Amino acid sequence: MAPPCGGAHGAYPMSFFAPRLNRIKHSPSNAATQKVRELRAQGRDIIGLTIGEPDFPTPDNVKRAVVEAMARDETRYTTVDGTDEMKDAARLKFKRENGLDYGRDQITVANGAKQIVFNAMMATLTPGDEVIIPAPYWVSYLDMALVADGTPVAVACSEDNGFKLTPAQLEAAITPRTKWLVINSPCNPSGAVYSRAELAALAEVLLRHPQVWILTDDIYEHLLFDDREFATIAKVEPRLYERTLTVNGVSKAYSMTGWRIGYAGGSKDLIRNMAKLQSQSTSNPSSISQAAAVEALTGPQEYVHMRALEFQERRDVVVPMLNAAPGLSCRTPEGAFYAYPNCSRLLGLKTPEGKTIVNEQDFALYMLDNGVAGIQGEAYGLSPYVRLSIATDLASLREACQRIQRACAALS
Ligand SMILES: Cc1ncc(COP(=O)(O)O)c(C=O)c1O
Repeated sequence: MAPPCGGAHGAYPMSFFAPRLNRIKHSPSNAATQKVRELRAQGRDIIGLTIGEPDFPTPDNVKRAVVEAMARDETRYTTVDGTDEMKDAARLKFKRENGLDYGRDQITVANGAKQIVFNAMMATLTPGDEVIIPAPYWVSYLDMALVADGTPVAVACSEDNGFKLTPAQLEAAITPRTKWLVINSPCNPSGAVYSRAELAALAEVLLRHPQVWILTDDIYEHLLFDDREFATIAKVEPRLYERTLTVNGVSKAYSMTGWRIGYAGGSKDLIRNMAKLQSQSTSNPSSISQAAAVEALTGPQEYVHMRALEFQERRDVVVPMLNAAPGLSCRTPEGAFYAYPNCSRLLGLKTPEGKTIVNEQDFALYMLDNGVAGIQGEAYGLSPYVRLSIATDLASLREACQRIQRACAALS
């Protein structure tokens, strides 16, 4: 029997797939991580520095809480955007750590911070609506804006300014169609952290433009180095509280990427409409994962600080080693778990095989040939850089940096 959608384009005519898919791409970090798996399966010795998740186990108290939740048969559908217990845990966290007050009806819980951002964009964007995204950025902001019919407006934030958006850049990027500004601090991939004063300066601009809402993705809040203080914009400027969606999650702080719990606080109307959307897509996030997240947010918190110190130790090994690689220069990240070295001085050089490194993709491929997988900065909207995750043990990080040093030294 003929396939139902046979035709000139193979199994399916082009029209079978929605045009919106043509606007977006696969997550480059997922794709690169998959590539590492394939190369390893072929026997290649590759140190994978592509993945954006802590390599630590989920804390034991969290694991125990899930066993207890199962024993209580908390295994059914829950309220679409989170149990009362989970919402209260998020409220407690926002109060305790950020000084932000939210009612239960101002909290939403979803399958990861990723779904929260997706819900927010899908619930609010109409064609022509603009989303300001400081670059380098977490790739998903851009693609989610696109899939939700919005127009991403990437603003390049130079390394000279610590990869941070300046008030003047923000002012210049805002138009009558701007609906959202995305803030991500600490930032994936640059590790940039906005101080209270820097957020206050951005807030001053935002107060002049009441059509702009702020989506602050605080998921790396706890991965801060050198005793830095965390600041979030709804607290820094209370007049922006009503139009700020404060997004967070348990993935990075508690090594719980697989549990898929993210949460956010925001205005009641926005929260209600995001829940409406979720009610017709995934419904509630996993009941037992919510029980796990309640324990993570309300149980002992020492784990979080200890892990941040471990990431800091790794950063302090990796960054000097990258800076010792001929031609690379790496700014010291203030938070998160990525290094974002600049490879501009390597462009134009030749590999021992005689291939010219024309751009950062070539450099990323050359690193891969030398046994280290990273991701080209183009994916994050700012070139020429590569993103290296430091969420790997110290021995592997040292070995990876040595390979990078040798590879850079071999270019001429
Ligand atoms: C900046 C940023 N926001 C959100 C997420 C997604 O987190 P979650 O696992 O909660 O969906 C990531 C994951 O890499 C991220 O880097």
